[in-house]
Amino acid sequence: MQQPDICVRELAPAPVQVIAVSGGKGGTGKTAVSVNLATAFARAGRATMLLDGDLGLANVDVQLGLTPRCTLEHVLAGECRLDEVILETSAGVRVVPASSGVARMAALSATEQAAIVRAFGTLHESIDVLIVDTAAGIGESVLQFCQAAQQVLVVLRDEPTCLTDSYALIKVLSRSHGVSHFRVLANMTRHAGQGDSVFRRLQRVTDRYLDVALEFVGEIPEDGALQKAIQAQRPVLEAFPSSPAAQAFKRLANQARGWPLPDGASGRVEFFLERMLRRPAPRLRLLK
Ligand SMILES: Nc1ncnc2c1ncn2[C@@H]1O[C@H](COP(=O)(O)OP(=O)(O)O)[C@@H](O)[C@H]1O
Ligand SMILES: [Mg+2]
Repeated sequence: MQQPDICVRELAPAPVQVIAVSGGKGGTGKTAVSVNLATAFARAGRATMLLDGDLGLANVDVQLGLTPRCTLEHVLAGECRLDEVILETSAGVRVVPASSGVARMAALSATEQAAIVRAFGTLHESIDVLIVDTAAGIGESVLQFCQAAQQVLVVLRDEPTCLTDSYALIKVLSRSHGVSHFRVLANMTRHAGQGDSVFRRLQRVTDRYLDVALEFVGEIPEDGALQKAIQAQRPVLEAFPSSPAAQAFKRLANQARGWPLPDGASGRVEFFLERMLRRPAPRLRLLK
């Protein structure tokens, strides 16, 4: 007998805002931005999930002082449920830590892919925002996460190598992954106007050579409080809530709430994963 042709999209609730935090170079503060932006969202009352997409050098859990016991690999093996993998921070951020199991995502069989997507579909909570912390460089996983997210946040430092690496990331994403809009956050700025100035330098090159739109979303100052918070494995918003960096993250979270979702943005985290996993494989039908 023919199965009813139902797709999860028809049952989808309000869209999840998915933000991939990237930037090309290592050490620009992608993880610090992911962790603190997620914390600011959660403290502002948004249901927030943070996925560690730095598959080789996962450190979201380190910056948050969490100790993951099981991973998506165990979920795939049927040894634990997804809700057992997810950890929660004191601010209420739901964290999906990275593991070697996640690194295999790109090579999963269709059955395994469907199992992961289904696992996210079984989460009872509804998520307002999903932040994905990506690895340095322009490896396949970074490109996949950025392509699947509806919003790419490029973390930029005022250094020549950061500019060239961010340009390279934007170039590859725009030329071969269909991403044409990028939000740029200047990190570790030392004086007023430095963020705007480094943004303009990046924009001058992209305007000249690429068909993309860049949007400057502000800056996070260089702040010893953030370094101390990382040492203490806590978000700066919790360790030093009145520090300049914490205040800047609060402003960014406020602003990000208003970023318009692209047409066709879909609800539920499993759609993000489906978009990500779908690239090499044919489209998955989620419900049989
Ligand atoms: N706004 C900031 N002020 C001071 N130090 C910062 C700031 N952002 C990042 N850092 C420093 O940079 C280091 C690298 O940050 P991290 O988030 O691990 O970068 P990435 O994930 O891009 O490799 C942190 O350990 C911290 O010491
Ligand atoms: Mg990192």
